[in-house]
Amino acid sequence: MTTIADCKLSRTSLSYVALRTPDVEAAAQFYADAMGLTTDHGGDRPDERKGRRLGWGSGHYALELLPGAPALDHFGLEIADDGGHLAVGERLGRQGVEVQQLDPQAETLLVRDPDGNAVHLHGRVSRAGEHAADPGRRPVRIQHVTLATADLEPMIDFYLALGFRLTDRMGGVFAWLRSNVEHHSVAIVDTGRTGGLDHYSFDLDSWADFKVWADRLTDRGIQVQWGPGRHGPGNNLFLFFDDLDGNHIELSAEMERFFDGYADYAPRIWNVDPTTVNLWGGQVPRWRDVAHETPAS
Ligand SMILES: [Fe+2]
Repeated sequence: MTTIADCKLSRTSLSYVALRTPDVEAAAQFYADAMGLTTDHGGDRPDERKGRRLGWGSGHYALELLPGAPALDHFGLEIADDGGHLAVGERLGRQGVEVQQLDPQAETLLVRDPDGNAVHLHGRVSRAGEHAADPGRRPVRIQHVTLATADLEPMIDFYLALGFRLTDRMGGVFAWLRSNVEHHSVAIVDTGRTGGLDHYSFDLDSWADFKVWADRLTDRGIQVQWGPGRHGPGNNLFLFFDDLDGNHIELSAEMERFFDGYADYAPRIWNVDPTTVNLWGGQVPRWRDVAHETPAS
């Protein structure tokens, strides 16, 4: 019998990102001001690290801030597929991945990808209030992480083993993987750096919101770092800015959708060229090592 332990994911989404920051309160204020994220949903972290959990409405938290040098601490995947996170943990365990329980009831499991990024696997959580679009004041939701790596293929293999599908890749540089109808919820880019984020993203409702958000960022003295533009893979609109620690934040809308079960899709191979990541003009983000990501010839 085929179970979720053998199948690909189709109802799994990024649920939260946890960042380490030297000044939790300053970071919380930044995200409250820039993103409409508040600290009264999800509450304080119940351990000694004195972090903050930030969210919208009455839903689950979307961002966690923990004290420490700037870095990705972990990110969470909400596995709403049948069998859920326990079945996925079982599958990874069978493949030799160490799977830890983070609580006695195994409500959250911890696994590490080949670069050492900590990934939380958990079941369905309450999203009440989180999915309502509120243009101008808050994004719709958190949407994807793009991980930096120095060794792309083992990272792809790990997320395929977890149950992702490979949607697209840009040569040997970039891979986009899906776990629901959206083009990607995890992407991986070879930056020559092992572990951590290249960037992470929030969804906006529509193109019209980008104008509102660009003006909103300008009002707060926050510079747009890349975009607006349109990615080739995913076809989504984008605009990037940085938080206080230099984490790259993407605002995104109109991501391409895939309907597995209705059609068989083959991964597409995109040119290793700046126009792939920005169809509107080929500009690359200023933080990227272009020489590393562009073939010598
Ligand atoms: Fe992205």
